[in-house]
This record gives sequence, structure tokens and C-alpha cells, in this order.
Amino acid sequence: MSRNKVTVPTLQRMKREGRKITMLTCYDATFMRILDDAGVDVVLVGDSLGMVIQGGTSTTPVTMEEMIYHARIVSRGVTHAHLLVDMPFMSYQASVEDAVRNAGRLVKEGGAESVKLEGGRERADAVRAIDQAGIPVMAHIGLTPQSVHKIGGFKVQGKDQAQAMRLLEDAKILEEAGAYALLMECVPAPLAEEITRAVSIPTIGIGAGPGTDGQVLVIYDMLGMNNSFNPRFAKRYADLHSVITGAVQAYIEEVRSGVFPSKENSY
Ligand code: KIV
Repeated sequence: MSRNKVTVPTLQRMKREGRKITMLTCYDATFMRILDDAGVDVVLVGDSLGMVIQGGTSTTPVTMEEMIYHARIVSRGVTHAHLLVDMPFMSYQASVEDAVRNAGRLVKEGGAESVKLEGGRERADAVRAIDQAGIPVMAHIGLTPQSVHKIGGFKVQGKDQAQAMRLLEDAKILEEAGAYALLMECVPAPLAEEITRAVSIPTIGIGAGPGTDGQVLVIYDMLGMNNSFNPRFAKRYADLHSVITGAVQAYIEEVRSGVFPSKENSY
């Protein structure tokens, strides 16, 4: 089936037309081909790779080199989806020059079609400068995992009136600065819906209820790859932990008993 490439204007048109945007994370070419063939709109090479691929306890150690490596291999499998790549911790916080230079590296070396950074009004200058360099930038507000040590854990944000008001203002400031979309992580559903109505750019939610313009999940979470991670927002669409465990155990059993390889598997 031939389908049009999803671009930033496509995503903005989807919001205007009330069509929901689907987004999943991806870290390698094999998964990318599956996601692309399945028809997902946006693929995010997320710095969540620091946790689900590297086995760390936060995203803060992830480097530019690691993001570029994963972005490059994912980009080999893309034909339809829009390829969004995370800017890792400390690749944009120290200066606007860093932000533009590193966003540029993700495009030039990683094949990114747009980039995502975390933070509210304090990132408006970086967003403006990246956008003016011709690179579309998505802003990530609410729970911003790169600030885990400041926030004090992976917690829902915007629960009290003052925090909610600040998030709403941040969303408008980031739109004005040139963000092409907003990602909202772990914010109360009514607030996410209010922000979605208040801005004209698309909003993508994770743990933000049904009122956003689109949804994103970490692919390993939605496929049920990790038995010990089961947050309320991460609906499981498969239980690959059990499927993979069963397949590996069957292989071990067949090798040990001599059933595999059989004649059909031999030359
Ligand atoms: O890095 C990531 O996977 C993300 C998602 C949680 C949205 O930013």
C-alpha cells in the first residue's frame, strides 16, 4: 500500500480536521519497519532508550552520540511515518547555541525530521532559535523525565491550580515561540484537554487522558515486554514477555532434547 509521508504540516492538518495522531517510540530498524507498515503517524526515537534499552533508572545519562546512533538506524526503516528524535539531557539546556547545534546534528547525522526537547517557558528561546534554523521542534511539558531529580520522581504534574495555570501559560508561550506541537506527559485529563483547546498546534498525550490531539506510548510498554513496569497510563496491547519467554523456553527444551535442529532445519 502506498501512503503519503507524514510531515509537520500533515500533523497540523490532522488537528484542524479532528483526526487523532498516533505516535510510538522506536529504537531500531526492525521495529521501525513493523511500525511503518502498520501505519503509525509519528515514530519517536525517545531518550527513554536510556531505560528500556540501556537498563538505566533515568534518561539523564543518554548522550548525543547514542541518540544519533539510534536515530540513524531507525531512519533506515522509515517510509511513511514522521521521524521525531529526542534531544538528550544537557544537549540544549546550557545555551541556545548548544540547542541549535545539537538539533542540527540530530537532523544531519541522525536523519531526524523534527526534534523534541523538555521544558516550559524557560525553553522558549531554544525553541525559537531551533525553529528559526529551519528545524521543527516539539516541546514536552508536564512530567519532564530529564528533570527527575528536581521534580523528585516520576509524578503527575499540574495537580494544583497554580501548577495547572503555569502549564497552560507555558503551552501558549511555547506555541508563540514556534513549537510545532506539544507533548504532555502525566497531567490531569481535564487540564490536558483545556490546553489542547487553548493552542492551535497539535498536542500529544501520555498519561494525559483522551482530550489531546494524539497519543504516544513507549513501544516496550504497550507490547508488555517488562513484567515489573505497569503504570496505569501504559495500556498493554500484547503480552510479549510471556510470548518471548515461551519461545525461548521451547527452544532451550528442543535443543536439549535433540528435537531442534531437525532434518528440515539442516542442509
Ligand atoms: O523518551 C520518550 O520515550 C518520551 C515519551 C515518554 C513520550 O519522551
